[in-house]
Amino acid sequence: MGVESDPGVAGAISKAGGLEIQDAGKKESRVLRVYRGNAHEGAFVDHEVDLSPGMVVLDAIHQIQNEQASDLACRWNCKAGKCGSCSAEVNGNPRLMCMTRIQDLPEGPIHVAPLKAFPIVKDLVTDVSWNYEQNKKIKPFTPGIMTAEEQAKGEFKMLQMDVDRVQEFRKCIECFLCQDVCHVLRTHQKHDDFAGPRFMVRHASLDMHPKDGADRVKDVWKEGGIGMCNITKCCTEVCPEHIKITDNAIIPLKERVVADRFDPLAKIGLALRGGKRKANALPMAE
Ligand code: SF4
Ligand code: SF4
Ligand code: FES
Repeated sequence: MGVESDPGVAGAISKAGGLEIQDAGKKESRVLRVYRGNAHEGAFVDHEVDLSPGMVVLDAIHQIQNEQASDLACRWNCKAGKCGSCSAEVNGNPRLMCMTRIQDLPEGPIHVAPLKAFPIVKDLVTDVSWNYEQNKKIKPFTPGIMTAEEQAKGEFKMLQMDVDRVQEFRKCIECFLCQDVCHVLRTHQKHDDFAGPRFMVRHASLDMHPKDGADRVKDVWKEGGIGMCNITKCCTEVCPEHIKITDNAIIPLKERVVADRFDPLAKIGLALRGGKRKANALPMAE
């Protein structure tokens, strides 16, 4: 008879003939040290929660809401790592609470705090509306000029490798964990100068789209503030969708900015193409 230890229950689970029998043991517990307060004042408050197998931090927060503090504010929606709502800082690391298993965290009280890069509304809820303002500044997809073949068929043609390249960027769930960890926003609070990694990803998804005809280099440089990023890759490390934010979005965008603005040979080439960086670029709308 094999015996498996279960991190959530003090008793053991016995397996006999394929049947699992859970001993009626005393429940294990952990302390969650949760931020309670608003933008002006607050403190960490300890809450002891009963553990169950596979429990995630969001489950523990819900248990606290149900049994100890019904006024504890937190934002969540899907509990499946797909809505991007439950972002918080768990033991100082930006995480989705619904995807953070308690059994994977080191012993001792688990600190749960709101995102640091954005203003606190209440407890674990922050005001992330600044991000939506950044999003509005980005030109939407702008269909470029069709080739003669496309005009004849009346539809754009796109290679699978081009689809694959931008597909990665479209996995973003707008959790803003990358925005939270980026030191330009988090530590230096340069929200007026830098749109942040999430919006570099959006710029990249549009700029690398072969059928987009808008010239986005100036936007990435001026409004986006890409020069503020010093490629520390912290954003990539926290992305729950495993988007290679720095390598696949930011660095290629930086290369385009540098080529267009500072490389004399590239500038000559650009002038010879009548200022069109993309083959299917639309006439400049200035
Ligand atoms: S790589 Fe750039 S965008 Fe990402 S965290 Fe570092 S400074 Fe911020
Ligand atoms: S790029 Fe990744 S970390 Fe940033 S908002 Fe999108 S999913 Fe979240
Ligand atoms: S609740 Fe949707 S990502 Fe966590």
